[in-house]
Amino acid sequence: MAPRKIIIDTDPGQDDAVAILLALASPDEIEVLGITAVAGNVPLALTQKNARIVCELAGRTDMRVFAGCDAPISRKLVTAEHVHGKTGLDGPVLPDPVMALQDTHAVDFIIDTLRAEPPGTVTLCPLGPLTNIAVALERAPDIAGRIEEIVLMGGAYFEVGNITPTAEFNIYVDPDAAKIVFGCGAPITVMPLDVTHKALVTKPRNDAFRALDTPVGVTVAEMTDFFERFDKEKYGSDGAPLHDPCVTAYLIAPELFSGRHINVEIETVSDLTLGMTVADWWRVTDRAPNATFMGDLDADGFFTLLTDRIARL
Ligand code: BDR
Ligand code: CA
Repeated sequence: MAPRKIIIDTDPGQDDAVAILLALASPDEIEVLGITAVAGNVPLALTQKNARIVCELAGRTDMRVFAGCDAPISRKLVTAEHVHGKTGLDGPVLPDPVMALQDTHAVDFIIDTLRAEPPGTVTLCPLGPLTNIAVALERAPDIAGRIEEIVLMGGAYFEVGNITPTAEFNIYVDPDAAKIVFGCGAPITVMPLDVTHKALVTKPRNDAFRALDTPVGVTVAEMTDFFERFDKEKYGSDGAPLHDPCVTAYLIAPELFSGRHINVEIETVSDLTLGMTVADWWRVTDRAPNATFMGDLDADGFFTLLTDRIARL
């Protein structure tokens, strides 16, 4: 089967970086058409730079990286340096990128690519706030029907929230964008905290990255070491959740995940629950299903896949 053509929309972020590395290590299954950066974990100037750093780490200086929106559609940007450090990629020492940023705006790249490729052949993989995707959908509504699938990391149901008691970070930062995306009609698969909080980088799993003894393997271990200290303290867990690689792992091995096709709405009004993904997991409403909301994963299978693929870089 031909590899799936994808655009990765991202705000790196150590876990975004691992998600990108997994995709770039898997050319038989995934063809990355381009990487679009958005403001999120850190401001856009850093996320677009970090995306290029990650491509260079993977030896992919040919990859095209586009800068997108520097702020949510109608709100002030909220960032997460408390988790990811001031660069967004704190942990390893990584050189500044040499490869150039593309001149085209990320939103134009998303629109142009979806219009140029045959309908139903391009998958969008958002790993950060959904601003770029929503702006593209608002500006070019015709692209919604051309999207093969949107596979995104965001939201939560049973795990409720990580940035507020009821909201997950990516959705909270730009709930207006999330509302547009969840209402766009394209097939959507969601990797919420319910799944990603099971993708815990325990010490043996991180040791396996380090034991690869390659520049990429050691860098992944160092990034995860940094990222972990916050979540371990917060959750008292054995390791930090590796959120965003769930998206790219799903493209390679969907059998690792299970979930339900349900209705998911986004709270955009209430101050108390802003950015909540109101997921009708128990199907107690007659609202039409609009997303496949994942709930479980085979964590050992996920880390075996990740380690095997990182070893290829
Ligand atoms: C999400 O927020 C970011 O901090 C991570 O990169 C991930 O995309 C988890 O809530
Ligand atoms: Ca992210």
